[in-house]
Amino acid sequence: MQNNKRPETMERITTPALAQAFIAEQIAAIQAQVGDKKVLLALSGGVDSSVVAALLIRAIGKNLVCVHVNHGLLRKGEPEQVIQVFRHEMDANLIYVDAVDRFLDKLAGVAEPEQKRKIIGAEFIRVFEEEARKQEGIQFLAQGTIYPDILESGPVKAHHNVGGLPEDLQFELVEPLKFLFKDEVRVVGHELGLPDNMVYRQPFPGPGLGVRCVGAITRDRLEAVRESDAILREEFAKAGLEGKVWQYFTIVPDFKTVGVKNNVRCFEWPVVLRAVNTRDAMTATVEDVPFALLQKITARITAEVPGVNRVLFDLTPKPTGTIEWE
Ligand code: XMP
Repeated sequence: MQNNKRPETMERITTPALAQAFIAEQIAAIQAQVGDKKVLLALSGGVDSSVVAALLIRAIGKNLVCVHVNHGLLRKGEPEQVIQVFRHEMDANLIYVDAVDRFLDKLAGVAEPEQKRKIIGAEFIRVFEEEARKQEGIQFLAQGTIYPDILESGPVKAHHNVGGLPEDLQFELVEPLKFLFKDEVRVVGHELGLPDNMVYRQPFPGPGLGVRCVGAITRDRLEAVRESDAILREEFAKAGLEGKVWQYFTIVPDFKTVGVKNNVRCFEWPVVLRAVNTRDAMTATVEDVPFALLQKITARITAEVPGVNRVLFDLTPKPTGTIEWE
């Protein structure tokens, strides 16, 4: 039976030296567990899977097979960064799967939020399963499970578990981060040489931009979410808010309003800005974003994002509003 309780004697990893000790210990443990066998990992580019990947690359090199599935719902630049960091800088054995059309075709016309989540989750398993079957000699599955996932505290849905794979693909699990809290994972990731914008990034839901493209996803509206999100992130970074605000992103609802661009009447989408702070995602308060910054972001989004003529700021704390719109 798996031991799922953090040892009481385990020191909180808060310093580079403690992180280095943890890394050395885990490398030895991984090598002892997997020997010269191959390990499969679904590498989303999120903090946890990236840290697991970096750790396993140190421990077993190319015997770690990373699969990065691009479902079309990632933020701007994310798939490129995964390829750059892991394939080019860390020399990882990385399989990049472009599944964008597959996911968007399956999602076409589906407006109900839970149905969208189900489709994204099920399709992800299917794509991952196909890649797993192409590999020979895999005996282990690495996962970025962290301690809060085990404790199941808070509403942040577990998104690490590639559970759902069929019987014949039940691999033995490798979960080196399972006793760590998020802040400890970040210290370890930093010590493993991962870029800061990967290690200190804000939470991002498994279904990605899919839950921010409200209602039935269309490619053009999804691009409006992705582009406006990139502008918001860039401006928050320039204003020194990156890493200070817990979560910030844009939403594009499924309706249009009248506006004027270049003296011509236009009928286009609004973009909603959301920026919140929370400890545990159960409740959240709205970040007091400087008005001048909101105006600057509005000017950029309406000028640079096709199909958008209006920007709104969501002032709703949780409750009553959830953090995401779906
Ligand atoms: P809500 O919208 O419920 O979000 O206030 C709380 C936190 O959970 C994240 N979230 C998700 N994460 N899969 C995930 O992995 C999901 O389906 C999902 N829905 C919400 C959300 O981004 C916020 O951090």
